[in-house]
Order: sequence, then structure tokens, then C-alpha cells
Amino acid sequence: MENMDKDIQQILLTEEQIQSKIAELGKILTEEYADKNPVIVGVLKGVVVFYADMIRQIKTPCQLDFMWISSYAGANSSGKMLVRQDVTADIKGRHVLILEDIFDTGNSLSFTVEHLLSKEPASLKICTFLDKPERRKPGVTLQADYVGYTIPNAFVVGYGLDYNEKYRNLPYIGILKPEVYEK
Ligand code: IMP
Ligand code: MG
Repeated sequence: MENMDKDIQQILLTEEQIQSKIAELGKILTEEYADKNPVIVGVLKGVVVFYADMIRQIKTPCQLDFMWISSYAGANSSGKMLVRQDVTADIKGRHVLILEDIFDTGNSLSFTVEHLLSKEPASLKICTFLDKPERRKPGVTLQADYVGYTIPNAFVVGYGLDYNEKYRNLPYIGILKPEVYEK
């Protein structure tokens, strides 16, 4: 059986560190969204593991929804995105919280925010588990309202994050050995 751990250079965040941060964020978000019945929008697919853990620490009634966005094929550098699957809830006048796995260049979040704002929610906030501010594209002024961990500029996998669709099921967040993506 292939062992995925051998491709990891360094464990950046252990399962314990991940869960303690989620508990901390959960207390803040529970207070923020008490009696607001928020729509919690997950941006697929990377967010699924964080999403499942996070919603169980938000201890107030809420509605779950998802969006799936992607870059136009063959246009990686242009940063043009499209909605592959939209939210199903009518979010007009609702309090919306976006959950994201990682805030990197900011292309995905900027696009998601613009898309959801056009539906006129009562409020729109962003909670990202990881933030890599060094990678932000010039011109992106968007900021996350809630951040789990700010991390250095390294390619990380696990806890939902992938490299070529692999490693999403690692229970921790690790830095991938460069030779894995250079080969
Ligand atoms: P953006 O560059 O902020 O638009 O981030 C786009 C997407 O790139 C994220 O939602 C992740 O799926 C992916 N991504 C960015 N940085 C990493 C990383 O370090 N590891 C794995 N996926 C990443
Ligand atoms: Mg990805």
C-alpha cells in the first residue's frame, strides 16, 4: 500500500492544532451568528473537511450550502473563473458566511464574493482556515473576516487540500516535498 506520509517534508499543523483552532473559531462564530440563521457556504472541493469540522462547532441553527467554482480550462494565468455549481438557497436578505480552505492569490474568493454579493445578502463574511498573504495578487484588497492560521508561502496538502487531487484525506496539513511536484 502506498504511504502518502513519505511525500510530506514537514507537518505544518497537527490534528490537535487544527481542532483547537476550530474550537476557538467556533466560539466566535456561534456568538456572531446567534439568532441570525446564517447560510454557510462552502467552496468545493478543498473545504469539505474543514467545513464538516467547523459547522459542528457553530452551535446555533444554520443552513448549509455549497458552491463549486473553477478556472476556465487552459486559462490558468488569466485567473478567469466560472460557477460550476451555484448555491441552491435564496440568499437575498440572509446572513451569509463563506467557508474556504485557503486564501492564496485571492482569485477564487474575490470571484465568490462578487458572485454572492450580486444576490443581495443581508451580510457576507469570510472565514478561511488558512491564509497565505505573501501570495496575494496585487490589486486584491479583499480581506478575510476570520482566519484560522496564517502560513508561509509553501505548497501545503492534507485536510482537504490537494495536489493533483491527491492527499485531501491526510488528517494533518503538511508541506509537500518539492520533488513530488517537480518530477
Ligand atoms: P486562490 O489562489 O486564492 O484563488 O486559491 C485557489 C485555490 O487554490 C484554493 O481554493 C485551493 O484549492 C488552491 N490552493 C492554493 N494554495 C494551495 C496550497 O498550498 N495547496 C493546495 N491547494 C492550494
Ligand atoms: Mg485545489
